[in-house]
Amino acid sequence: MNWTEKYRPKSLKDVIGNKKAKEELLKWAKEWEEGRPTKKAVILYGKPGVGKTTSAYAIANDFNWEIVEMNASDERNREIIRRIALSGAINETLTGGKKRLIILDEADNLYEKAGDYGGKRAIVETIRVTKQPIVLIANDYYELIKGSGQELKNICKAIEFKKVGKKEIVALLRKICQLEGIEVDIEVLNTIAMRCDGDVRSAINDLQSIAYEKKITRDAISHLGYRDREREIFIGLHRILRANDLRTAIREAWRLDESPDNLLLWIDENLPIEYKHRDDLARAYEYLSRADVFLGRVWRRQYYGLWGYATELMTGGVAIAKKHEYRGFTAYHFPKWLRSMARSKQYRHLRMNLAKKLGKFIHCSSKKAYELLPMFANLFKSNDDLAARLAAKLDLNEEELSLLVGEKAKEIYKEAQELKKKEKQAVLFNFK
Ligand SMILES: Nc1ncnc2c1ncn2[C@@H]1O[C@H](COP(=O)(O)OP(=O)(O)O)[C@@H](O)[C@H]1O
Ligand SMILES: [Mg+2]
Repeated sequence: MNWTEKYRPKSLKDVIGNKKAKEELLKWAKEWEEGRPTKKAVILYGKPGVGKTTSAYAIANDFNWEIVEMNASDERNREIIRRIALSGAINETLTGGKKRLIILDEADNLYEKAGDYGGKRAIVETIRVTKQPIVLIANDYYELIKGSGQELKNICKAIEFKKVGKKEIVALLRKICQLEGIEVDIEVLNTIAMRCDGDVRSAINDLQSIAYEKKITRDAISHLGYRDREREIFIGLHRILRANDLRTAIREAWRLDESPDNLLLWIDENLPIEYKHRDDLARAYEYLSRADVFLGRVWRRQYYGLWGYATELMTGGVAIAKKHEYRGFTAYHFPKWLRSMARSKQYRHLRMNLAKKLGKFIHCSSKKAYELLPMFANLFKSNDDLAARLAAKLDLNEEELSLLVGEKAKEIYKEAQELKKKEKQAVLFNFK
């Protein structure tokens, strides 16, 4: 289960940070409770993940109000909202009925696109006549009050939710760890709180993403900030390599849904980090090489039915190859081979661009120029002065120059820039 849901505060007093905003919200709710609200609606606005939606639900819970959450941008809802708003009486609790809190989340998404100018206007109208409390929630206050939302400024109480402080976030994360029975290095929590920039939701998500062991050590910090997909793979890999039976490992592999070729690389890269006993490692590689043979046959014979066997060998086979149990946190690596492939792709791209520039200069195709690159390199290396002049003329950047002259690229690039500047001045003052 997602921890942001699991630990979503039920009461306003458990919402961390934003003391002032919470006080204002509470004051407004009390006015409603007493049947004499000064403003019938509030706007909760601010950055994502700071507790706006949570606070709206929490206040309703604290006062035992019913909740009606509606997407206001859906035109079909407008009449329903209006009807609910009109039901009952303002001082309903005095007469015994339950209040209904109408929550319109993402109210700033009411784009006033062509043909729909009614969204904000309908809300304004509803707020004017409502007998039930209304909360509008928006990331962007100005987006909400622009256009026909102008009137909202007057009839709503605006409450800003600010970024939540680092200390409070650390305390919350620590509490969650306690409840989960997880031992954690405080540095990990400090790092998470710093990175999340006041966004409680992403802090909790970060914590959960590295909490697949009952002990989180400092090494886990290196796993933060991976892109979601990489993080998913790390977690899946962990489960596969730690699995004690075939089925668990294979199921994880299906869940991961990564191509068998890539998965093989991931396992190959990280197997030696995980399996510390030599005999385990040897057996595991036996399975991995079998999987590789199957993958080879898939490609050679174009027979994709073998894919499944390859996947089962590299995950299930590898998992049951171990006779020892491994514990603790392992910092996995991104496959070096994949990375170097990406790099060599960039490299080829760079060379091709250079060839294009040279080709134009010597009136030949870039393909021909590509073949001549070594010759150009020799020419550039033979004479720094010449190299700088050519670089200026051809408008080469430092990276391209480094393909030709290696380490000297920086120096020559500078020289070339100087030459270009002089040239420009000469043109400017008509010295030519
Ligand atoms: N101030 C807060 N106190 C405690 N938890 C919070 C807070 N803000 C956000 N969260 C956590 O993040 C999740 C998302 O928060 P939410 O209220 O939906 O943010 P918002 O509406 O501001 O984008 C909540 O379920 C909760 O777990
Ligand atoms: Mg929200």
